[in-house]
Amino acid sequence: MQTINQLDLLRNNIAALRKNGQRVALVPTMGALHAGHMALVEQAKRHADAVVVSIFVNPTQFGPNEDLDAYPRTLERDSDLLRAAGVALLWAPQVAAIYPEGFATKVHVDGPSAGYCGGARPGHFDGVALIVAKLFNQVTPDVAFFGEKDFQQLAVIRRMAKDLDFGLEIIGVPIVRDEDGLALSSRNAYLTVEERHKALALPRALHDASVRIRGGADVATTVAAASADILNAGFAQVDYFALADSHTLEPMTHYDGRSAHILAAAKIGKTRLIDNIAV
Ligand code: PAJ
Repeated sequence: MQTINQLDLLRNNIAALRKNGQRVALVPTMGALHAGHMALVEQAKRHADAVVVSIFVNPTQFGPNEDLDAYPRTLERDSDLLRAAGVALLWAPQVAAIYPEGFATKVHVDGPSAGYCGGARPGHFDGVALIVAKLFNQVTPDVAFFGEKDFQQLAVIRRMAKDLDFGLEIIGVPIVRDEDGLALSSRNAYLTVEERHKALALPRALHDASVRIRGGADVATTVAAASADILNAGFAQVDYFALADSHTLEPMTHYDGRSAHILAAAKIGKTRLIDNIAV
């Protein structure tokens, strides 16, 4: 595996792979890798000849009072994991190389970025769309992999890739969970032992709500009860807990048999967790 932090070197390496007729996959990450990220890498290996993983803690997707500085950075360990997994290239640029002096371009995706995390974190998906558009232009992959853990992010990226004619395939990978059901996340590292235990209320509430809604229960009542359960379990705040159309992410006030997901975000202590489940 080659670790690269200059764009011209990245382009040379990608050109060499292409010359050999290799199909290139991209797995964008912010590092602090766990089994969720590695599931994306495994899928990528199945769909391509060469896997490129990017690690970049992208400042433009963090709000002013969010955890940009505290975000875990474990590049050496990450790079060992990726090498062992058979990744061809690790693209790990510095912030100044991605956002040089005078950088002035924005990428905004309407539609699926409205509401949910887009409402709770203004500007977040603009930052995500911007960096992912840049990564697509830098790596020019045939296929790119994103986790369903960040369900709204996946919908935003699918929309953008289609709208801007990136001409690549986007593949979503199912959520990887710990044995007890908590979705793996780099942010789980922030949780105290007690919070980690209480955090289980989130996947539990999602599971219970999905069973009820599928069984015909009233959506508003179910959602209110689920939010109350999450708060009673010790969460400080529920940002949202909502039923949405799986493709457009439009809110659904009743379950009509369309493909639907329940999306949720809640804060435990200072840590914000997100999760979702298909109905
Ligand atoms: P990050 O949080 O590092 O996640 C990188 C990718 O791993 C995302 O596609 C995310 O959905 C996926 N992922 C994380 N936890 C997962 C889990 N438990 N199961 C399955 N997939 C999981 O998401 C980002 O970084 C950034 O926003 C990024 C797309 C890299 C742009 O900066």
